[in-house]
Amino acid sequence: MTLSVSRILLCFAALAAYADAVELTSLVNLFIGTASGANGGSGGNAFPGAAIPHAMAKVGIDVSTAPRQAGYVHDNSSITGISLMHDEGTGGNTDGGYGIFPLFPLTNCNFASCPVGINDRAALRANGTDAATPGYFTTTFTNGIKLETTSTRRAGLIRFTYPTTGPNHVVVDLTNDLGRSFEGGSISVSAAGRVKLGGTFLQSYGPSNYTVFACYDFAAPQSAQKISAFGTYQSTTLAAPGNITIKANSPGLDFPFNNSVSPEQAGALLSFTGGKTVLARFGVSFRGADQACTNAEEEVPTWDWDAVQGASAAAWEDVLSRVAIDTTVEDATVVELLYSSFYRASLVPANLTGENPYWDSPYPFYDAFFCSWDTFRTVHPLLSLMSPREWGEIVSAYVDGWRHTGAYFNRSRPSCSPHEGFIPECRSNTKAGYVQGGSDGMVPLGDFATKYGSRASELGVPIDDLYQALVDTAENTPPDWYTVGRQNTAWKTFGYIPTDWVDPSGATGLPTREASRAFEYSLNDFAVRQAAIALRKAPGDVVKYSNRSMNFVNMWDESVTSDGFAGFAQRRYPNGTFAFSPPNACSPVDPVSHSCARGTDNDVGFYESSSWEYSFFAPHSMATIIKLMGGPATFVPRVDHYFAAGYYYAGNEPGFLMPWAYHYAARPDLSALRVRSVVYENFNTGIGGIPGNDDSGAMASLLTFHILGLYPVAASTQLLIGSPLVSAYTMRNDLLGTSTKVTVVGFDKAGLSAAPPAGARVFVKSVTINGAPSASLCWIDFADVTGGGTVEIEVYGDAAAAAAAGCGAGPRALPDSLETGGFPA
Ligand SMILES: *[C@@H]1O[C@H](CO)[C@@H](O)[C@H](O)[C@H]1NC(C)=O
Ligand SMILES: *[C@@H]1O[C@H](CO)[C@@H](O)[C@H](O)[C@H]1NC(C)=O
Ligand SMILES: *[C@@H]1O[C@H](CO)[C@@H](O)[C@H](O)[C@H]1NC(C)=O
Ligand SMILES: *[C@@H]1O[C@H](CO)[C@@H](O)[C@H](O)[C@H]1NC(C)=O
Ligand SMILES: *[C@@H]1O[C@H](CO)[C@@H](O)[C@H](O)[C@H]1NC(C)=O
Ligand SMILES: *[C@@H]1O[C@H](CO)[C@@H](O)[C@H](O)[C@H]1NC(C)=O
Ligand SMILES: *[C@@H]1O[C@H](CO)[C@@H](O)[C@H](O)[C@H]1NC(C)=O
Ligand SMILES: *[C@@H]1O[C@H](CO)[C@@H](O)[C@H](O)[C@H]1NC(C)=O
Ligand SMILES: *[C@@H]1O[C@H](CO)[C@@H](O)[C@H](O)[C@H]1NC(C)=O
Repeated sequence: MTLSVSRILLCFAALAAYADAVELTSLVNLFIGTASGANGGSGGNAFPGAAIPHAMAKVGIDVSTAPRQAGYVHDNSSITGISLMHDEGTGGNTDGGYGIFPLFPLTNCNFASCPVGINDRAALRANGTDAATPGYFTTTFTNGIKLETTSTRRAGLIRFTYPTTGPNHVVVDLTNDLGRSFEGGSISVSAAGRVKLGGTFLQSYGPSNYTVFACYDFAAPQSAQKISAFGTYQSTTLAAPGNITIKANSPGLDFPFNNSVSPEQAGALLSFTGGKTVLARFGVSFRGADQACTNAEEEVPTWDWDAVQGASAAAWEDVLSRVAIDTTVEDATVVELLYSSFYRASLVPANLTGENPYWDSPYPFYDAFFCSWDTFRTVHPLLSLMSPREWGEIVSAYVDGWRHTGAYFNRSRPSCSPHEGFIPECRSNTKAGYVQGGSDGMVPLGDFATKYGSRASELGVPIDDLYQALVDTAENTPPDWYTVGRQNTAWKTFGYIPTDWVDPSGATGLPTREASRAFEYSLNDFAVRQAAIALRKAPGDVVKYSNRSMNFVNMWDESVTSDGFAGFAQRRYPNGTFAFSPPNACSPVDPVSHSCARGTDNDVGFYESSSWEYSFFAPHSMATIIKLMGGPATFVPRVDHYFAAGYYYAGNEPGFLMPWAYHYAARPDLSALRVRSVVYENFNTGIGGIPGNDDSGAMASLLTFHILGLYPVAASTQLLIGSPLVSAYTMRNDLLGTSTKVTVVGFDKAGLSAAPPAGARVFVKSVTINGAPSASLCWIDFADVTGGGTVEIEVYGDAAAAAAAGCGAGPRALPDSLETGGFPA
């Protein structure tokens, strides 16, 4: 083949451009937030293994000691395997979720007596050998065996490099998921080196089990590796053998098991000669082992490591490049935090399209809505800015969940027509998990309607179904509102969630968290209201859901005082009398030990938060909160006191909005300072660099917004605007075909600290949108940050002037609140 001269020149030009550009993937630190959560550690539970964006396969190593929610912990724990699927940043079962079908490399053992059991085989990593880049992970054991992995959406490659030519061995473990929750399954090995597995395991955050399949191929075409022996094993010494079906055309192996090990140990052992390297190809599926093999064959057809890793890195480069900055100019720590955060915020939800084992559907299927309570605040809004196609698929999957949950949860339920089911709340391991508060999946659906309602069909979202899903979830009470939906009987009867009340509908669910649920139900109903407006639904719907979204005021007990501040949210009995809990109960400085989770032992009324914190929670009508608290003159010191007294907890979602709360009292200058102290006191690039569980990218997306100087207002097109931590950035939206440039005029690196020195230019002086001054210094519309134009944020260091300027003089300078006529229809 001959190339024309011009073609050759073009090639050189392309190479030169590539060489100049920084690979954004090289700026991602996958180990942020991987410190152990034991003994008060930060426990970000971040997943540092190989995965493509929104992947189903998330391959990584698993440690032997809990807590280990994502499998990995960056300490000296021993390793029990490299497994195929993981969650990102979740809480829940401290043993972790997934971690299915691990491989484990062994050497220097006799095939008939290798230590295959989970406790016997565990090995330490050599200090400092863990390394990862987007799409690739490696570590080396102290015995010299090196592990590497790279992956596609449902498949990938795992490579072991041994110190000698062996014979070397690989354990294929059927039973040990991270939760050690095996309930039955099967394994078969073929002489051609194909191992098929299927197993049933328990959800890590929910009441159900799930069944998953994998396929390993060990006959790498281009490698010298030869399978010299193989067999299956099963610990038969345990009293209950379980439901293990081992199909193998080889004799069963009899290993000396330690029978205190749970669950049963079973799997296969393969031995290799012919070289120091063993390459395994894998596929995963929820539909069957054959489908897992097909996934491996289709996604990794030639076992080409570089091709798989290169495609993964390219997919990540595409995602990361949606927010472009000059990495040579900006602060290096901020750059690392930005791209590492944007990376983690794009790992989940997981794209399981084609893998739905429960119903046939033309719509996408996504897993790891874990949980919407965690992700509605910042994960979905970040997707809305720069990843609308992914978001459209995820939103469709929520709607499809509504379409099928009615039948799924109770097939004998009579015609729910036209009502079908409920919006998923906490889908984990493909099944409904536990509901933490409201049905907070309603918020992203309402958000989608406001932002992309008019382009829904282009994004494949059935928008009328989306609206019906919102209405059904807002109106109907499911049989068990602990796994999906809301306690709507109570909500509609009382306008709050009463304490000590038995639901006459027969619905069951944990009756706790009454006060915090009422706040979330209010916001949920606001999301329906917003969708009704955006989609031009019946005016009566707008009135109805506007009204209900103000119900949070019913929780307000003006007689309660704390630290000199009056008026706090409280639980209420059915007769209207308030049930008192100390406002600091369940705060980080609670002097008494309370139960603050979902269980019936929670007698405080708030979920993972205090009345001190939840009393601020009405993102759709903060003016109401300010009024209830006595006006801006008491609101501002109350927010200050909330931080100073330790009621703020950076590591959990209920506090996300709080550094920005001053905006609503026309004090964006105070938000600018508070955001900086929150960022620099709680986030860093170390393994302890996330203040709490990353929660499916919730912390990551929050930090991304803080860096960009934005905070999204739930289920609306408003974003609070402040002073970013970079001097300029460009956000790309491929659906809209736009690149929007935000420039900070007068940007000052002195502002990049927890407590910027006096005079540091961190206060917003003016906001200019496409050359025209904005009437508000406090908020900006979604259309303006995705419209393809320019936004200039002028900053200055004059604190007194900034305090006096507030949000500006315009009539709608303050961010909207429903009560004061905001979010107009
Ligand atoms: C791991 O580190 C801890 C704390 O540094 C130490 O106490 C422990 O002995 C170490 N364990 C191993 C197996 O090296
Ligand atoms: C591991 O390496 C780090 C530096 O890379 C060092 O600080 C630490 O002491 C080493 N730990 C052990 C147990 O050797
Ligand atoms: C999984 O859960 C279902 C429903 O509780 C139960 O019927 C089934 O036996 C479980 N499967 C296994 C393998 O334990
Ligand atoms: C045991 O496994 C068989 C074959 O996979 C399956 O048909 C059966 O339902 C399983 N039993 C239980 C209790 O899970
Ligand atoms: C079996 O494992 C347990 C727990 O790891 C350990 O305490 C015990 O010593 C082991 N027993 C044998 C015979 O190895
Ligand atoms: C999800 O998977 C489907 C099926 O392969 C694919 O068409 C779609 O593009 C994927 N979505 C994303 C966001 O990668
Ligand atoms: C299913 O729905 C029917 C009719 O509403 C109800 O009687 C039954 O209790 C429900 N079953 C469950 C398991 O919720
Ligand atoms: C909501 O409707 C109820 C019943 O009509 C009414 O009493 C209440 O004042 C309304 N609330 C608001 C905020 O409009
Ligand atoms: C309301 O009910 C609670 C709980 O039963 C009770 O303690 C309280 O006295 C009642 N209030 C009134 C006004 O009856």
